[in-house]
Amino acid sequence: MDSIYSYPHYYEIAFSYRDIPAEVDTMEEAIAKYSKIPVKTVLELACGNSPHMLELISRGYEYWGLDLNPTMIEYAREKAAREGHDPKFVLADLKDFKLDEPADFLYIMMGSLYVQSTEDLLSHFTAAEAGLKPGGLYFLDWCIDFEPLSGTRDSWVQRRQGITVTTRYTTRVHNAAEQLYEENILFTIQDKGQQRTLLHRGLRRAIFPQEFVLAATKLHRFELLGWWNDWNLQEPLGEGRGEIVRPITVLRRL
Ligand SMILES: C[S@@+](CC[C@H](N)C(=O)[O-])C[C@H]1O[C@@H](n2cnc3c(N)ncnc32)[C@H](O)[C@@H]1O
Repeated sequence: MDSIYSYPHYYEIAFSYRDIPAEVDTMEEAIAKYSKIPVKTVLELACGNSPHMLELISRGYEYWGLDLNPTMIEYAREKAAREGHDPKFVLADLKDFKLDEPADFLYIMMGSLYVQSTEDLLSHFTAAEAGLKPGGLYFLDWCIDFEPLSGTRDSWVQRRQGITVTTRYTTRVHNAAEQLYEENILFTIQDKGQQRTLLHRGLRRAIFPQEFVLAATKLHRFELLGWWNDWNLQEPLGEGRGEIVRPITVLRRL
């Protein structure tokens, strides 16, 4: 079965439930509160179709996207070109990328901090440390597993331009000791009377909050500024809260 990443348009529809301007508002709120440097260049790791790119460019930022899938990068590049922009794209792995110069702000969306081992996580932080200017923010959407490792299940439907994409997301513990879980995302697409299914399947290492802090702040040059529920900087994560939904985490490069 084909991968969803060979069909960026279907991917874009599947994850189009986000309110992109509101999310960029929150990123700017974090920058205003916590960045120690002015922000011009913003780097998205695992950018894929770069959902926040046009909104960021329209607000005056210079966008850089990094991904290891050339089809996704090409899709994002064409989307920018249609609006007369030519942002920088880097074909690389977030675990060991090297940029010509560091960015002012770095972010990763939709839990896309893809690592399969502790070595990968440490290697990612070494790359991110070099890829971000001192005083700049490292901003995560999900990516940290705040709940214990267990199987999960979710599904949703999105419709755009006459195309319906039904997404079924499941995870299964693969190796508890190594914190590995299988991620399966099944997309069922109805497009012009035709039905097609695409599967994304991968093995991922869960990243728990305190080991994330350890790796970032004790083994690399970052400080933790906080983590918040549901993209809301007024709702810090902590004791006795209800369900954790789309948490964001902000580090600052020392
Ligand atoms: C879930 S999509 C995220 C796309 C986009 N950032 C968003 O907000 O919707 C994940 C993207 O991560 C990319 N990816 C997966 N593993 C990666 C890695 N190790 N390094 C860089 N990109 C990676 C995939 O090619 C895909 O485009």
